[in-house]
Amino acid sequence: MSYQKVKGTHDFIKKDASTLEAIRNVFNRVCERYSFNSHYVPTMEYSELFSRSVGEGSDIVRKEMYTFMDKNNRSITLRPEFTAGIVRSIVENKLYATEPLPIKSCYFGPSFRYERPQSGRYREFYQGGVECVGTTSIQSDIEVLALVVDFLSAFALRDQVVVKVNHLGGEKTRKAYRDALKLYFSPRVAFMCPDCHERLDVNPLRILDCKVEEDQQIIKGAPTIDQFLSEKEKGELEKVCESVKKLGVHCEIDHKLVRGLDYYTGIVFEVHPLRGDVTQGAILGGGHYHNLVAQLGGPDLEGVGFSFGVERLMTLLSELAIDVRLPLGKKVYVMPLSDPCYNYASDIAHTLRINGFVTEVNYEGGKIGSMFKKAERLSMDYGVIVGEDELSRGTLQLKNLATQEQVTIKKEDLISTLRKGH
Ligand code: HAM
Repeated sequence: MSYQKVKGTHDFIKKDASTLEAIRNVFNRVCERYSFNSHYVPTMEYSELFSRSVGEGSDIVRKEMYTFMDKNNRSITLRPEFTAGIVRSIVENKLYATEPLPIKSCYFGPSFRYERPQSGRYREFYQGGVECVGTTSIQSDIEVLALVVDFLSAFALRDQVVVKVNHLGGEKTRKAYRDALKLYFSPRVAFMCPDCHERLDVNPLRILDCKVEEDQQIIKGAPTIDQFLSEKEKGELEKVCESVKKLGVHCEIDHKLVRGLDYYTGIVFEVHPLRGDVTQGAILGGGHYHNLVAQLGGPDLEGVGFSFGVERLMTLLSELAIDVRLPLGKKVYVMPLSDPCYNYASDIAHTLRINGFVTEVNYEGGKIGSMFKKAERLSMDYGVIVGEDELSRGTLQLKNLATQEQVTIKKEDLISTLRKGH
């Protein structure tokens, strides 16, 4: 019997695991500078949370949720995204009453969507992101976008991406736009996929997310939201785009950008790679939400946030040959030549480790030649050889495995010799 991972999931091993951790560390550091605090929420929530927030009409709720009944017959869903859970947590814990506003939360962890697995699309994938709740100003949208730019710049991606922005308008604008979409699609929906029929009734905006090839021609001719935006909203959109450009990133207004989740109102944005596998879609998406907090039982507070897809970011980094892993300390392989030297070797290893050197000890014995071979396979930088002579004299032999240069030194001189770069 052989076991395989569930379709659409994947293992992070060695280089991938350290890349994921490096991304998480850099993201946390950038969030800290913007005063965002880590916020952990459960991986599962009651299903109604997502149908209420992400929206009955969204593909995520209609087709992609991992939902099951628990033993008490409650419908539970593995989170398809973080925003709903974070806002639920802010409301349930009444943070808006005890904490200064805005509440600034950041997060990182797995999300689950039952999508057709393909490049950049997994069933379990990692997301990192922020939510800033209790804001009123367009300046918060701009600041969140500045955080996005700082984060991507930390990986030298500033020139490799384009930020697309749009404005979904206030209540009045969206109603006028919805009506216009209904008017446009009603006579045409008979020629479209069955999902679009349903979307027309539930939320015609979602028709614009339809991925069916044959429907695209009809969708192309649909009215765009810019025709319905007020002067104030148009001004806000311009201001956001100009601010992002000032940060040194490509930014364009895309009136077709509506995002696939129902809670957005106002500014929305996505970050797309300029090169590489652009078919994998956006690396990051987010936007402003005016009604979500109230919809989930909280006060009338607005919010803005974004999430990035860790796997998509990793694919882009690997295509551009950017290694984001933090440089580790030099690697030292300690080789005791016989049993009596093991304690001496352990002492040396401990000194090395507390001084920041990545250290491994060979306690398996064997010939010196095979120990050196193992050191090479483990990509070690130095070998430390200790035999009974060294033990009795308090010395050791240090070998630089790149230059093959070998010296005998006192045990207490090891760290300073390594620091000098023997
Ligand atoms: P989203 O656009 O659904 O937004 O997802 C954000 C990012 O997660 C995407 O840009 C993509 O990189 C990644 N992603 C989504 N689905 C998959 C998948 N199946 N496989 C791999 N990566 C994927 C949200 O989730 C919103 N909660 C963002 C937000 C936060 N808006 C406001 N605050």
